[in-house]
Amino acid sequence: MEQDKLISLLNDMSLEEKIGQMLQVSGMFYTEDGVLTGPANTAGFTQEEIRLAGSVLGSVGAEQLKKIQREYMERQPHHIPLIFMADIINGFRTIFPIPLAQGCTFDPELVEEGAAAAARESAATGLHLTFSPMADLVRDARWGRVMESTGEDAWLNGRFARAMVEGYQGHGSLKEKGRIAACVKHFAGYGAPTAGRDYNAVELSERTLRDDYLPAYKEAIDAGAATVMTSFNTLDRVPSSANRWLMRDILRGEMGFEGVLISDWAAIGELCSHGVARDQEEAARLALEAGVDIDMMTNCYCKHLKKLVASGAVSGTLIDEAVLRILKLKNDLGLFENPYKDADAVQEQELALCAAHRQTARWMASESFVLLKNDGILPLAGEETAYIGPYVANGEIYGAWSLFGTPETTVTIEQGIKNRGDVQAYFAEGCPLSEGFGRAKDACASDKPAGKLLQEAVELAKRADKVVLALGEHRRHSGEAASRADITLPACQMELFRQVCAVNRNVVVVLFSGRPLDIREISERAAAVLAVWMPGTEGGNAIADVLYGDVNPSGRLSMSFPYCVGQVPVFYGQFRTGRPYTEGMEDQYVSRYLDIPNRPLYPFGYGLSYTTFAIGPVQLDAQQMRRTDRLRVSVTVKNTGSVSGSEVVQMYLTDVHASVARPVRELRGFCKVHLEPGEEKEVSFEIAEDMLRFHDIHMNYVSEPGAFRVYVGNSSETENGAEFVLEE
Ligand code: NOJ
Repeated sequence: MEQDKLISLLNDMSLEEKIGQMLQVSGMFYTEDGVLTGPANTAGFTQEEIRLAGSVLGSVGAEQLKKIQREYMERQPHHIPLIFMADIINGFRTIFPIPLAQGCTFDPELVEEGAAAAARESAATGLHLTFSPMADLVRDARWGRVMESTGEDAWLNGRFARAMVEGYQGHGSLKEKGRIAACVKHFAGYGAPTAGRDYNAVELSERTLRDDYLPAYKEAIDAGAATVMTSFNTLDRVPSSANRWLMRDILRGEMGFEGVLISDWAAIGELCSHGVARDQEEAARLALEAGVDIDMMTNCYCKHLKKLVASGAVSGTLIDEAVLRILKLKNDLGLFENPYKDADAVQEQELALCAAHRQTARWMASESFVLLKNDGILPLAGEETAYIGPYVANGEIYGAWSLFGTPETTVTIEQGIKNRGDVQAYFAEGCPLSEGFGRAKDACASDKPAGKLLQEAVELAKRADKVVLALGEHRRHSGEAASRADITLPACQMELFRQVCAVNRNVVVVLFSGRPLDIREISERAAAVLAVWMPGTEGGNAIADVLYGDVNPSGRLSMSFPYCVGQVPVFYGQFRTGRPYTEGMEDQYVSRYLDIPNRPLYPFGYGLSYTTFAIGPVQLDAQQMRRTDRLRVSVTVKNTGSVSGSEVVQMYLTDVHASVARPVRELRGFCKVHLEPGEEKEVSFEIAEDMLRFHDIHMNYVSEPGAFRVYVGNSSETENGAEFVLEE
């Protein structure tokens, strides 16, 4: 439909109809047959309000969504179609590794492929939009939602946010088959809740917000993301859904976002709990004035906007602008011509968990695993191996916030090992998942007494050559509303670990988690530690691939593992201080802890391989750089071991002197390079002036002339560097 037709449609709509478009309701109001159900005042909505709501979240199923759409369009005065939205975070039926793990692949193309597969499955079930990517920068492992981000680095997150948007939306029109719209969230700063507690206030300086937190959202918007979601938190004490400066000046004004802005679930109503709105009416006015187009699941817009317009408290123009954006999105998705888009029950069946998608999931999972320690015990060969732990036969490993995944469709470790057919393996549960903190019901799997489980496991461990211990967090122990103050493993798992280590020294820990954990003791005592995060549908097969060396691990940490929780937030890009500490220093008045090191246990960018690599000295094609130049940086990378493998070569920059204190270093390039044993390749990067920019003392986004250092290596701690000067 042409823009002028959309405008005439808008002009023809009643105010109630327009306000209806601005309400999003949950699919729980519809039956399987697609008809409205429930008591007339479900969740405070009247049947009429639900009847006019312009979008639905959380419902899936081609046949059901078609019915809901058909019924809705019949009664909608202008036959405007609904948009169906849902949280497809790391896959729909085929579950890919959690986003934090995807970040560890350092492979945006692979992540794009995963998002495209998720889009195909989602489109066939009748969805039009996913609430993904989450581009929030995360630096505090206590926050449960770090699992939903690609990590602690703003620039890297930008690469992945773009990859996901392009994976969902494609590179052409949203109308294309198998494509769905993306929604970037949570705007803004949601990843920095005070003390790591979900929904807590966010305090960021404007410079930190602009330099570190906004770039990944911006990258997703530049990639064409159709929609943006507000965050739950306050930023500088203003809740996002009422933050005009953030939404109108920055998001729309500076970032040029023209799409639909949707509130997070109930966030407009929560303006009252934040204490910035006296009642729902004021909440509705504040959110509309801030530019929020869709109210997700509160009564604020549907019950109060009409009154507010009638009294002249808000301008009808604001409503028209919002509704036009919503109509435009529906039009961009092609819903006016084909309201069912790709909903197709046959395709839905064919695509869900299809071999091609499972293959991508398996490969992505193995690429996301990070080998944290290996004293040579891995890869396993033909020896007798005991697989012990509460995650060995557990299908819950697929992921947190993976709404449509199931344990039944997930390959467990036990199945993955058995699928190989050629190994001598024995299995035992070892202990319950946890003592049941927080979410006891979901977390405790076994009904055998703990003592018995432990005894069986220790007996098995005594007899085996090697032990693989599958330990970690349950998927319900991370994600939304799953913050933890103590990020160690449950006591029953640690007891199992200690008892097994006491009878067998060849212990490999396969660690499941949605966040970096405090694993000091494990890292000291285990012979090897493989972080597998929450690896998705194909988890068990991918773990077997890596344990037995069919796939050489090449994942690198996208978020530092802290030494202990007292260190968090700990991240490689810390700001410089006036009293820097370097290890071994005797001085008293320096920035350090008395009782723990400053360094994380495992830093960003770190990860081992079954082979070794040598990265040669940094070569620059010039020592001086004009603003229009591109400086070429190169190194040689050689596989110095005996098996083929991939190294993630990383380039970091340091601004030596600037008008404000700058991070100690910032990632500005990476390249995953595959090498056969003995093979050597040259890897090069280009430094352009815009990579040196930041918000200066006057808050201008500029680069400042002077000295810079460039480092190229295989972790954020590399010392392999050279210096260059940016000229005036
Ligand atoms: C709340 C979460 O914060 C958000 O990420 C999600 O998209 C919405 N709920 C909708 O489920």
